Amino acid sequence: MEASSAAEGEDKKIWTLEKESELRFEVGPDKSFTVVLLEQSAEIFGVELAVNTEYHFSAGAKVAVFTWYGCKLQTTRTAEVLYVAKDTPMLSYVNTHIQLEARRDQALSKLSKGEKAVGPRVLVAGATDSGKSSLCAVLCAYAVRLGRTPTFVDLDVGQGEITIPGTVSAVSLDSGTLSIEERLSLAAPLTFFYGHDSPGENPELFRHMVSRLAECVEQRQANDRDAAAAGTVVNTCGWVDGLGLELLRHCIDALSIDIVLVMGHDKLYAELMADSEALPDDAPPRTVVKLPTSGGVVQRSAQQRRQGRAARVREYFYGAPHAERRASPALTPTLLELRMDSVRVCRVGGTQLSGGLLPVGQAALLGPTRVSMVKPSHDLLHAVLAVCHPVLKPDGTALVPGEEGGLDDAGQEIADCNVAGFVYVTEVDMVGRRLVVMSPCPGDLPSAYLLVGGIRWSE
Ligand SMILES: Nc1ncnc2c1ncn2[C@@H]1O[C@H](COP(=O)(O)OP(=O)(O)O)[C@@H](O)[C@H]1O
Ligand SMILES: [Mg+2]
Repeated sequence: MEASSAAEGEDKKIWTLEKESELRFEVGPDKSFTVVLLEQSAEIFGVELAVNTEYHFSAGAKVAVFTWYGCKLQTTRTAEVLYVAKDTPMLSYVNTHIQLEARRDQALSKLSKGEKAVGPRVLVAGATDSGKSSLCAVLCAYAVRLGRTPTFVDLDVGQGEITIPGTVSAVSLDSGTLSIEERLSLAAPLTFFYGHDSPGENPELFRHMVSRLAECVEQRQANDRDAAAAGTVVNTCGWVDGLGLELLRHCIDALSIDIVLVMGHDKLYAELMADSEALPDDAPPRTVVKLPTSGGVVQRSAQQRRQGRAARVREYFYGAPHAERRASPALTPTLLELRMDSVRVCRVGGTQLSGGLLPVGQAALLGPTRVSMVKPSHDLLHAVLAVCHPVLKPDGTALVPGEEGGLDDAGQEIADCNVAGFVYVTEVDMVGRRLVVMSPCPGDLPSAYLLVGGIRWSE
C-alpha cells in the first residue's frame, strides 16, 4: 500500500514500559500495526516476544504487550487505541498458574509411581467480553513455557478459536503450537461439529457434543502421562444465566472440572460456589475462584462478534493474515466439484418438533441428536459443511454412499464422530446436479459424508 510505505518511519514510536505494565492497542479497520521488542522481555497473552523481531497485527486485533521486568518496544503505524496501563490483573493470573503447576507436579509424581492421577482440569467462565479467552491463552502459554503439554478445550461455539465457529474442539499444546500472531493454527485439533453459533440453538446436541469431546480428551490423556499431568484448560461462551448456566454446569460435569475460574461476575461466582458446596462428600472436591477482568478487555458489539466469526472462517480457508511470513504451511484453497449423487449431506437434529406434532412413530427419527439426510438444494449455497472422517464398515473398508448398508447404517455414527475439516459451498448447480465447494487444500475429500448446520459464510 502506497500510504503505508510513504509513511514508513513517520509513525515509529519508542515505548519504555515499567515492570508489570502493558501497552494496549486496538488496530482499526483496514489498518495494520507492528510491534518490535528492542530490549529486555515482554509477552503477548503469555507468549514471549523474541527480541528484534517484527510482529504484525491486522485490522480488529485488540492486544496487550505485557512486561514483568520492564522493556523497550518500538511500534510502527498507528492504532485506533494505543496506551500504557500500569494496573493489570497479571499478578493474580500468575498466582493461579503457580497453583496449577503445584497440582501438575503432584499428578506427575503420582503417575510416575504408577498411581492413578490427573492434573488440574480448569474451566474459565464469565460473561461475554470478560477476558475468558485471554486468560485461557495466558494459562496455556505459561504451562507450555515450562515444558508442559496441556490440553486446551474450546466450548465457545460462538467464536470457535481452534477451528471455526459452530464447533467444540480440543487441542494438545506444546511449544510448537503457540505463536504470537496466529494463536493456534499449527496444532492438529480434535473437532466436533455442533453446527450453530449458539448453544441454545440445539441444547441437547450441544450437551451430546461436549460429552463426546470429554470422552475423547479423557482417552487421550489416559494414554499420555505428560498430557494427563498437564491437565486441561477449558474456554466457554458468555451465556451464563438460565439455560446458559445449565449448559455450563453440564460442561463442568462432563469434563470433570476441579477448578472453575470466574471472571469478575459475583452472581455466577455465587451460583457455581453453591454448586460446589452441594457436591456429595464422596465426590472429588471442586474449587471455585473469582478472578478480576483486565481493564484492557474490549467490549465488542454484536456486529463485531459477527465479523469476528466471519474472520475465523476466512482464516480457516485462507490462513492467517501475514501467514506467508510464518512457519505454518501456506494454504492453497481449492475449488472442488462434487456430483450430488456421490456425496451425502446430513444434518444432525435439524427438526425441532415437539412429540405431539409428529406422525406416530417418527419422534425418534427427528430427535435433537438424530441424523437425517438433506436433499441438495439452493439452500446449501454459502453453507459451511463439515467433512466427516471415512465411515468404516465392519470389515474396515470405507463406506461409499449409495452402497448397501448406506446412510441408514452409517448415519448415527456421523453425529458421534470428530470431523476431518470443512468446506464451503460456492455454487449449487441443480441442472448439472453438482456442488462446487472450496476446500483449504487440494485433493479429494477424506469422505463423501458432509454435515450441514446453520453456519454460513460468504466472501
Ligand atoms: N489486557 C488487554 N488489553 C487489550 N486488549 C485485551 C486485553 N485483554 C483482552 N483483550 C481483548 O479484548 C477482547 C475480549 O477479550 P476475550 O478474552 O476474547 O474475552 P471473552 O473471551 O470473555 O469474550 C479480545 O479482543 C482481546 O484480545
Ligand atoms: Mg472468548
